[in-house]
Amino acid sequence: MNRLLSPSLLSADFGNLARDIDTINRSEADWLHIDVMDGVFVPNISFGFPVLKYVSRLCHKPLDVHLMIVEPDKFINEVKETGAVMMNVHYEACTHLHRTVQRIHAAGMKAGVTLNPHTPVELLEDIIEDVEMVLLMSVNPGFGGQTFIENTYAKLGRLRAMIDRKGCNTLVQIDGGVNLDNAGKLYEGGADCLVAGNAVFGSGNIIDTIAKFKNL
Ligand code: DX5
Ligand code: ZN
Repeated sequence: MNRLLSPSLLSADFGNLARDIDTINRSEADWLHIDVMDGVFVPNISFGFPVLKYVSRLCHKPLDVHLMIVEPDKFINEVKETGAVMMNVHYEACTHLHRTVQRIHAAGMKAGVTLNPHTPVELLEDIIEDVEMVLLMSVNPGFGGQTFIENTYAKLGRLRAMIDRKGCNTLVQIDGGVNLDNAGKLYEGGADCLVAGNAVFGSGNIIDTIAKFKNL
């Protein structure tokens, strides 16, 4: 089992992005989580590809791009140009998810599928072996700093059981309301990678906080 940490850029200081990315470069973070929103799939807009072009130039960590947008197929090339290793699309936003996954792979990226809090993990039965990661949203997507939804532990258990039963290598990521108090239980419950926005960037000491996550 992995114990990866992907700090979420959404909670960085947008007035000092280069400084915050440099801090992430110097930290023990494994990846940098990038939340792209369109104001349609979620009730918020974050940042787009012109900004990410500069983020990718500055960041030395692999980018894990979480697209909270409708019709993510339209932006596969743009995501690829950011140098992202992982392109994560929402189950709820993809009518032809299998085709979308094939296109992400054809572009040379790993494919992730994200589930909203209300979407059961059982719906992944016929796609899980085709994706490199499943992201369970532990808040309703759109904003940082929300409260962790406790039902996520039950979903994580059922997802881990499905992956173990199938014997596949699909990673499990958890995103939303993750902090130093719940991270240990999530790793022990089978999460491979935790996303943390507010808990990292709002902590007052980004490097120390990331080290605490990594030493849980
Ligand atoms: C929410 C985003 C998250 C967000 C997490 O829609 O997908 O990645 O940045 O922020 P925290 O960790 O503050 O809940
Ligand atoms: Zn996210």
